[in-house]
Amino acid sequence: MTISFIGHGYVGLVTACIFADFGNKVWVIGHTPEKIKRLKEGDPIIYEPGLQELLKKNLEAKRLFFTTEYDEAISESNIVFITVGTPPKKTGEADLSAVFAVSQEIAKHLRKGLTVVSCKSTVPVGTNKKVEVLLNSHKPTGAEVAVASCPEFLREGTAIQDTLYTDRVVIGSDSKEAIDLLLQLHEPLSGKRVITDLASAELIKYTANAMLATKISFANLISFYCEKTGADVETVLDGVGLDKRIGNIFMDPGIGYGGSCFPKDVKALINIGLTSGVDASLLQAVDRVNDETRNNFINKFTAFFEKQPTSHTQKKIAVWGLSFKPNTDDIRQAPSLSLIDRLLKDGYTVSVYDQAASENVKKIYGDKIHYASDPYEAVDNADALCIVTEWNEFKQADLQRIKSLMKKPVIFDGRNIYHPTTLQKMGFTYISTGRRPVL
Ligand code: UGA
Repeated sequence: MTISFIGHGYVGLVTACIFADFGNKVWVIGHTPEKIKRLKEGDPIIYEPGLQELLKKNLEAKRLFFTTEYDEAISESNIVFITVGTPPKKTGEADLSAVFAVSQEIAKHLRKGLTVVSCKSTVPVGTNKKVEVLLNSHKPTGAEVAVASCPEFLREGTAIQDTLYTDRVVIGSDSKEAIDLLLQLHEPLSGKRVITDLASAELIKYTANAMLATKISFANLISFYCEKTGADVETVLDGVGLDKRIGNIFMDPGIGYGGSCFPKDVKALINIGLTSGVDASLLQAVDRVNDETRNNFINKFTAFFEKQPTSHTQKKIAVWGLSFKPNTDDIRQAPSLSLIDRLLKDGYTVSVYDQAASENVKKIYGDKIHYASDPYEAVDNADALCIVTEWNEFKQADLQRIKSLMKKPVIFDGRNIYHPTTLQKMGFTYISTGRRPVL
């Protein structure tokens, strides 16, 4: 089969590499010549474990091709996947301008006979119908098009494994030919098949992300209760999660969810509710609790330092972890950015360390902050350490060495990666999430 992807972000590039690896001929279309050049040379542009190897392997096997031109790719494709961004507008509504612009381009280059066009981008209910109208009104005579929604469920950082071993493949379409072709393409993937209509497939994706975000906000809300009552959030959530009806997966409290999906998709679903007359207050609370979670971390930090006699300008704060989650260089909606903004505003000196995301953060803050080359350099002479992303390398860091390097052994842990009793014994001040502070 020959397939095309429009867009080479985390979803487009990873899925393109995997389908090429299964033996298909795969085109990836982008609009930035410099990026397409790098991709052709085997540079994935983004950081995703295992992606560079998969990219190089399939480039060398001549199954994977990158281009800025639609004609050569679309005209020989059986299936075209739209994997462009759908960022939020100020209202929270998903911005679909890229989806509609590429749909018109695709339409112009459709060959005679049937092509399946499928949105993998997360789009509000009804979008694929609009895409279908655009395709039909711009396609050449003799070209036929069938539209399908085929949402993606991969996570950044584990994208390849998530795609290969997915729990389900969702295909929504009114066309039997489109469903059959997509089933054939997805055959090597594990997971149940959910075959449905366009609207249900579109809503499955939003519902999944909103449900996961709700679990996280719920866990964070319970961490606030724990901080007020002296209960321990880990024990509470373990005790609750042992009930098989509830479970404890994806309920880690911390510093709030970030990234390019949950914040955007919860807001978009709220917007769909508000505009279609459905009560969106539950999801509005999920969104609000997420903001409060970030503020709670920063407030604990500022409350601690307000009690200190010396001024902020004399204090150096180390930040470990900049990406919105481990194993990615993505800093979109990352909690680290809210924290750094606040630290700089309050006059602190900031030293950060992240094994993948520093270059992206440098584009925002330039030389306003210091970029350490390892976790120990970051904490050298620091008045406090803030742990924002739970990269593995922090979990068994040499705490004795950290204590000896820091001016004051104070840790604010937004991800609960250490045990309070261990840090207490070592003489740290340790303020984590939903657990009694070690003061
Ligand atoms: C999310 C979904 O998990 C994927 O299924 C979906 O395909 C993807 O969005 C998408 O729509 O494209 P992703 O945003 O890459 O994936 O990463 P997650 O692992 O879901 O983490 C999202 C955020 O939630 C991170 O900031 C993470 O730190 C936070 N999180 C996650 C928690 O705070 N607690 C948890 O228990 C789990």
